[in-house]
Amino acid sequence: MTTPHPSPRGDGAAPAPVGVGTAHAKTILIGEHAVVYGAPAIALPVHGLATRAELHAGGPWALDCDLHHGSVDDAPPAIAPVVTAWRQAVDRVTAANGRPDPIEPHQLTGRLRLISEIPMQRGLGSSAAVAAAVVDAVAAASGVPLGLAERTELVQQSEMIAHGKASGIDTAAVLSNVPILFEQGAIAPLEVGGRFVFVVADTGVPSSTATAVGGVRTLRGEQPAVVNGLVNRLSELTRVAVDALQRGDAVALGAVMDEAHAALNRLGVGSDGLDRLVDAARRAGALGAKLTGGGLGGCILVLCGADDITRVQEGLRTAGARGTWTTILEGTA
Ligand code: MEV
Repeated sequence: MTTPHPSPRGDGAAPAPVGVGTAHAKTILIGEHAVVYGAPAIALPVHGLATRAELHAGGPWALDCDLHHGSVDDAPPAIAPVVTAWRQAVDRVTAANGRPDPIEPHQLTGRLRLISEIPMQRGLGSSAAVAAAVVDAVAAASGVPLGLAERTELVQQSEMIAHGKASGIDTAAVLSNVPILFEQGAIAPLEVGGRFVFVVADTGVPSSTATAVGGVRTLRGEQPAVVNGLVNRLSELTRVAVDALQRGDAVALGAVMDEAHAALNRLGVGSDGLDRLVDAARRAGALGAKLTGGGLGGCILVLCGADDITRVQEGLRTAGARGTWTTILEGTA
């Protein structure tokens, strides 16, 4: 579709967007699933995987992304979280009071273009990152600044549609540039006492976070003592992980990750593909490895020494990983 805006260069090139938003992927270091029951969890930003939203104003609501090209009215259900983020953000900025030149909704509709490097349905926060980028693109186009609390609320509304009852950790993680400890909605940046090198590896198998969360809920109904025991243990492991991060102790953190992977398997969210990659990482000399995010497919997170990155990545690819990405935490202390 076209927009009524002329090219800024006047040379026939595509018009510049009126608003742009970007966001990064996330990975959960420890505490996924347990976090749904109030346990603490740690999330890390993955800056090397990004998503970008460009708003080209004018005309009816339309999308341009991998899943859909055209009017939002014909969009598949998978697009509903994006449309929700867009509409809610437009409502929010147009409701902003006290502006001398109030923004009109039609200035914020038009064609929304999404460009994302974050693989979808792999536990890397793709849906939350896209929602965050959309919200920020609308805010940028409107000139109405949104604070972190408002951005969080808007992204979380979208996440509730994407995943059902989500804990909020994905939203918090894609909106934070630093590692966070998330506990019952409270978010605290984490101190890191050394350098930690992580590799994320993708099984290539898409998985639904809502299905994984639902499976754990069902298991909890059937075997409450087992599931509550595992949630408590994961909670303790997260506290140990916070301490290991602060002390810069990669060996201790790796051991915690290994135990967390076993606990997540017992919660029923593992898969053969995830185990294959975890085993390959350990054989290649990793300090620890676990599934990350919802599980049942998706990605694993590996901790390794800086000298072992290449060997670990090669081992993972040989074992069938579809993609690997490195993410490094530099010490803050
Ligand atoms: C997904 O990244 C993390 C889960 O714990 C779900 C949630 O907390 O909303 C599996």
